[in-house]
Amino acid sequence: MEKETIDALPTYNDATRPWRLKDRRRRRKAFRLFAVAFVAYLGWSTFQLVKNTQKPANILSIEQLQADHAVCASLRAVPQEPSGSRERNQRWVSTTKPTLIRNATIWTGEAAARTSEEEARRGKGYSWIAGQDVFIDNGLIKTIGEKISLDGLPKETQTYDANGRQLTAGIVDMHSHAGLSSVANLQDDVNEMSKDITPFVKSIDGLDPLQPEFEFIKSGGVTTSLILPGSANNMGGEAFVVKLAVGNHSGRAEISQQDMLAAPDSGLRWMKMACGENPKRIYGKVGERGPFSRLGEAWEFRHALEQARDYVQSQDAWCAAADKHGVENTQSYLPQQLQWESLGAVLRGQVRINTHCYTIPDLEAFVRHTNEFKFRVFAFHHAHQTFLIPEVLKRAWGGTPAAALFADNMYYKVEAYTASEQAGKILYENGITPTYVSDNPVLNSQHVVFEAAKAYRYGLPYHAALAGVTSAPAELLGLGNRVGKIKEGFDADVVVWDSDPLSVGAAPTQVWIDGAPQFEDPVILKKPAKKLVEQDLSLGKEMEKKKTNGDVIFKGISHVYFGRAEETFHASEQAVVVIKNGTLSCIGICKYELEAAQDSKTPIIELEDGYITPPFTAFGSALGMIEIDAEVETHDGPAIKDGVTRAVDGLHFGGKQLYHAYEHGVTKAISAPTDSSIDARGISVGFKTNAKHALEGGAIWQDEVALHYILTLSAKDDKTPSISSAIALLRSKLLDAVYANDTAPTGKDVYSEQSYLRKVVKGALPLVLSVHSADTISTLIHLKSSIESAIASRTTTTTTTPTNLRIVLIGGAESHLVAREIAAANIAVVLAPLLPHAQSWDQRRGLTGAPLTNGTAIDALLDAGVLVGIGVEEVWETRDLGLLAGIAFANAEGRLGFRQALDLVGGNLRKMLGVEREEGEEGREWLVWEGAPLEIGARVRGVGDGRGVEIWE
Ligand SMILES: *[C@@H]1O[C@H](CO)[C@@H](O)[C@H](O)[C@H]1NC(C)=O
Ligand SMILES: *[C@@H]1O[C@H](CO)[C@@H](O)[C@H](O)[C@H]1NC(C)=O
Ligand SMILES: *[C@@H]1O[C@H](CO)[C@@H](O)[C@H](O)[C@H]1NC(C)=O
Ligand SMILES: *[C@@H]1O[C@H](CO)[C@@H](O)[C@H](O)[C@H]1NC(C)=O
Ligand SMILES: *[C@@H]1O[C@H](CO)[C@@H](O)[C@H](O)[C@H]1NC(C)=O
Repeated sequence: MEKETIDALPTYNDATRPWRLKDRRRRRKAFRLFAVAFVAYLGWSTFQLVKNTQKPANILSIEQLQADHAVCASLRAVPQEPSGSRERNQRWVSTTKPTLIRNATIWTGEAAARTSEEEARRGKGYSWIAGQDVFIDNGLIKTIGEKISLDGLPKETQTYDANGRQLTAGIVDMHSHAGLSSVANLQDDVNEMSKDITPFVKSIDGLDPLQPEFEFIKSGGVTTSLILPGSANNMGGEAFVVKLAVGNHSGRAEISQQDMLAAPDSGLRWMKMACGENPKRIYGKVGERGPFSRLGEAWEFRHALEQARDYVQSQDAWCAAADKHGVENTQSYLPQQLQWESLGAVLRGQVRINTHCYTIPDLEAFVRHTNEFKFRVFAFHHAHQTFLIPEVLKRAWGGTPAAALFADNMYYKVEAYTASEQAGKILYENGITPTYVSDNPVLNSQHVVFEAAKAYRYGLPYHAALAGVTSAPAELLGLGNRVGKIKEGFDADVVVWDSDPLSVGAAPTQVWIDGAPQFEDPVILKKPAKKLVEQDLSLGKEMEKKKTNGDVIFKGISHVYFGRAEETFHASEQAVVVIKNGTLSCIGICKYELEAAQDSKTPIIELEDGYITPPFTAFGSALGMIEIDAEVETHDGPAIKDGVTRAVDGLHFGGKQLYHAYEHGVTKAISAPTDSSIDARGISVGFKTNAKHALEGGAIWQDEVALHYILTLSAKDDKTPSISSAIALLRSKLLDAVYANDTAPTGKDVYSEQSYLRKVVKGALPLVLSVHSADTISTLIHLKSSIESAIASRTTTTTTTPTNLRIVLIGGAESHLVAREIAAANIAVVLAPLLPHAQSWDQRRGLTGAPLTNGTAIDALLDAGVLVGIGVEEVWETRDLGLLAGIAFANAEGRLGFRQALDLVGGNLRKMLGVEREEGEEGREWLVWEGAPLEIGARVRGVGDGRGVEIWE
């Protein structure tokens, strides 16, 4: 029983990756002794109650009674949001020197004076203001203005030339578990899973200031985070707002949890609660502990709140009696129980509740609890269905909660299967504040600003999107008068960016926390000066997908990247693209075709800044193999231990994941048998993402693409308990194939592993190996050459030319360390993820990018001449492949042309896998975009996938 319970546990986060059983087993220890401790605790608390209520007054200590009476005042006090002017920031460290940041283009986070509230909501009055200086001292923003003279400033003032770059307030991530689990999740203090109701535990007790993730998260401009307990429990415990400056190099005098608190003088408190599947899955057991269902969860909430309410009432009664009759006349001490202190404080309005809740039943039940017990929930987190029920949210007690969201991380569990990329926009239009969060390590908090950028891309106005990671979370945390804006008197948490923070690939050039610069020698990427992102309200316009008969004309074409053609047109040229029967038939003026089309019913689509590009390909994702990550029913299922399975036999079409990938230009996918994303084993299949089923014409364009094996940490299983044994097995299988006799397999043997390996050693089938560690990659480079020697030695006896193995590595977090060796071995690499963040031990040496590291893996691989592609870890990310190529492009410092960047998610994959184009395919597969692809504001307006043409109008 114990074991089953344990295997039902989620990973550190919110159980989004329930298949990672290995992670779960580590948590066994946490369960031991729970029962013993609980019984002991019950006994103790009963004793306390007896002690409190039964002693006659005359033997009570008068000093204790007076001390208790003094507590009454604090019970009644509701902490106020800190505001008003300060001489200095209490967090300021005296060794921090004053700094004058010169010539910045600032985003204050507020609309210009005299903008009406109504107008400001629509984004009026917000702008980037060029030529501003910002003077910071005593941990505060002291002065903002043009050309501030050094004369009036302290003589130790340092200067920083922003060179016209964008300057914003530090990013605030109001949902992070940073520091609660260690690199690669070797240790984990995210969830206190001894029982479902633990409002009395505190995240700060598990916070490890030495976790390296604080550094790379901060390198994404994040200065403040709400560190929440996990979402395993209905009531998870108290949360803490911290600043991400730790130790001397960050300008702090000590390495300490306490020293990280963002507003130690404020008295503000926060707490995490969670609804839905997680507590059910973890605690639900028939006939035993609960909650087993949402019914049970609602009871858990209400029962806990009831006890807290009784506790509060007993205290209030005591305090009222002590006030009225004098403490010396009270019959007991003030009832005080640590167990109910924090939840009592919730009911006293002293704690800001943040609740993980996805679905309507969860959200609505929680809204009922707030009304029954009169407490306020400040934000619903994950909150994917909030956009459907703004009126329900408005019924919450004490004020409408905000929605803390991901921009497009969805469909990973049933609760997230009803979700919308437009959620932020819809909520905002309905008067509900969207904020964007990482749930680090679910998403890397370093890139939480990218969530805001994508929210903007899906129609949330620019100012509201940027507010969603700055002022809006700051306000929800109670710190809206101190952080989240560039305003005199605010904490000096400031970021200077190398490009518009909502543009693709934006990175800070420097970050200040409480006035202290955080990077001693920041790497600043050389980027061509780019325009600021221009508010494009048309991004919010819903478009309808229409199937055409294959004919369509697009007007307003500015760029063509097609085949070998690369053409640019000026707007005055009025260039068009004419598609006939699915094929590009004319690009340019096309006078004759336009005239011919006048009298036909050919749809004509007017574009602004139209682009034509080849479509994208998703390689190595679980597209078509997994629809909802957390639901095994929606997976093809795990590959078998012995032998080989073919993905083509388990492919499912028609899911939301495929549809969204398609809509973002991913018309083709190559997926392998899998039970999670990149860890696949078997034969991959090439298919069209828009097909209804496998028998539809052209749906499967190649039924066997490559043979896949896993050599990441997931390779360790019962059969190959170590990486070395997994390599040994692969080596012996390859050698068997090399030394096999020349009789070609027949019958069922055609589908045997040996038969595929024989194709591999003949160079006829690529071998795709999932691997992150530079050490394992080194071993594979050796293996490749030894197998090739074996092939060569056999070949000399048989007179055919020796072949080279065609090897593709997928993963590649540490590949930069052996980039030159990979290039020399003629091995290709698909980076998945593009930007690793030490999610597993074998990824810990991954590069996280500027300003912390000089480039990332892709830059090193490109410099070495490796053929590179980009893949993803989780299925939902396939829709972002274009944006990922955009990040590589924006940050490549000239290593990549635009066309080459497109090839990272297209042509390069085809090349490394030896997947040939079909005859005539070239002109039939295309994307038409409005706006520059790979940038945040682009959208697909037409797709030709070789089988048909669809347009968005
Ligand atoms: C501010 O920076 C921009 C961009 O580098 C530059 O053109 C401008 O001259 C600078 N202004 C001042 C006052 O230094
Ligand atoms: C950090 O260490 C240096 C050198 O020991 C010292 O000068 C400086 O004051 C320290 N900074 C803080 C914030 O303690
Ligand atoms: C349209 O293209 C399809 C697919 O290539 C082809 O079979 C068909 O004959 C074409 N129709 C016309 C009218 O050209
Ligand atoms: C060749 O190998 C196959 C499979 O291992 C075996 O069945 C067959 O007998 C072998 N043929 C010869 C001529 O050795
Ligand atoms: C970054 O690396 C490149 C080589 O890839 C080198 O040319 C450049 O000088 C490095 N920059 C810094 C700031 O170290």
